[in-house]
Amino acid sequence: MAEWHKSDWRSKPRVQMPDYTDPEALARAESRLSQYPPLVFAGEARRLKRDLGAAARGEAFLLQGGDCAEAFDQFSADAIRDTFKVMLQMAMVLTYGAKVPVVKVGRMAGQFAKPRSAPTEVQDGVELPSYRGDIINELAFTEEARVPDPDKMLQAYTQAAATLNLLRAFSTGGFADVHRVHAWTLGFTEGEKAEKYREMASRIQDTLDFMSAAGMTADTQHELRTVDFYTSHEALLLEYEEALCRLDSTSGKWLAGSGHMIWIGDRTRQPDGAHVEFARGVLNPVGLKCGPSMTAEDLKVLMAKLNPENEPGRLTLITRFGAGNVAEHLPRLIKTVQQEGANVVWVCDPMHGNTVKSASGYKTRPFDAVLREVQEFFAVHKAEGTTPGGVHFEMTGQDVTECTGGMRAVSEENLSDRYHTACDPRLNASQSLELAFLVAEELSNLRDSRKDAQAV
Ligand code: PEP
Ligand code: CO
Repeated sequence: MAEWHKSDWRSKPRVQMPDYTDPEALARAESRLSQYPPLVFAGEARRLKRDLGAAARGEAFLLQGGDCAEAFDQFSADAIRDTFKVMLQMAMVLTYGAKVPVVKVGRMAGQFAKPRSAPTEVQDGVELPSYRGDIINELAFTEEARVPDPDKMLQAYTQAAATLNLLRAFSTGGFADVHRVHAWTLGFTEGEKAEKYREMASRIQDTLDFMSAAGMTADTQHELRTVDFYTSHEALLLEYEEALCRLDSTSGKWLAGSGHMIWIGDRTRQPDGAHVEFARGVLNPVGLKCGPSMTAEDLKVLMAKLNPENEPGRLTLITRFGAGNVAEHLPRLIKTVQQEGANVVWVCDPMHGNTVKSASGYKTRPFDAVLREVQEFFAVHKAEGTTPGGVHFEMTGQDVTECTGGMRAVSEENLSDRYHTACDPRLNASQSLELAFLVAEELSNLRDSRKDAQAV
């Protein structure tokens, strides 16, 4: 790899980052942060890379999910527990469909900074700088609130540390709730679909009951008692990322100490830009969002920069084209990856290409569109003979009304009931679980068709 230093991004063109107005306050915050312990450790990041390498080969499946943006005022143990729990439930359903381990990665403990479609926002004729996430400024529509404040990086670090502390406790403490599979489907209304989910839940429950009868209880079986749960976020605010960068003494490589996996957003993936420059030098697994404007040429350059040694599990391509657009864009990227002989994990983000404005003015996402994009993603991979390696959702364990549709249908009129997101609309617990059942079905169909193909 070409020489790299954690501050090299500073000499590259940057987009979507705040212009801090007080350089001394910024320097103080950065210097404090750089003395704090890293939030994650190199061995953990390497383990996730190994797990993602398995996902690239179809020997594991990635479930990545969490808030669009974590918020200071919505930080609570209950919210973290609920999202963790619903992800574990989803993972169990997905394991059932895929028959391979599910790699669980939260959009948590660091997902604070947001790219915006416009630098300013106008309300009632007043124009103010856009809100960029709680790590940068505040959502309130006042001039003071929108000034970027570097001390917010320290508050974000503290919240991330406390979140990780809880996640680590849940991961090793056993989580009895995920063994009552039937209870998960109680909220689903009657009908053919509900029946199908209950049937699948019954089969999962049977397996768990059998294991327990055979003496493989959570107490005796390590795999059921502990889970690997990783964290991830968009590495957007590079001052924060650089300050948490640490040299790993074992390998002599640099670790992004802010989270296990970091990703580069669709708006900040300029091949010669600051964000790519930072991400290329750290040892963590790196995600790259690929929207409709990703060209074959850019992807080629980005793969060479971000994974020069073609290491399995290092690079995850998170595609997000919108329902109806996958067949137009994904084959071009698959072809490029094949031409380059590149190792990548193919992941579907069916959220960011499916955001619409409801009649009442709320930003929302129709459940059907989200599902359709996932199905199109599977269909293209099936046709190309490539491996769908995972899914990436904006979701929460709480009972919010932000996306429309699903079995316990949220209508446009319901959106105002519990619309709490600081940024994009999230799937609620019931919608997330339903989607897991539907993805499990896709995975199971794909397995069957590949088995049939092998048999002939
Ligand atoms: C996100 O994941 O919250 C996001 C902004 O995605 P994208 O970069 O794909 O638009
Ligand atoms: Co989002």
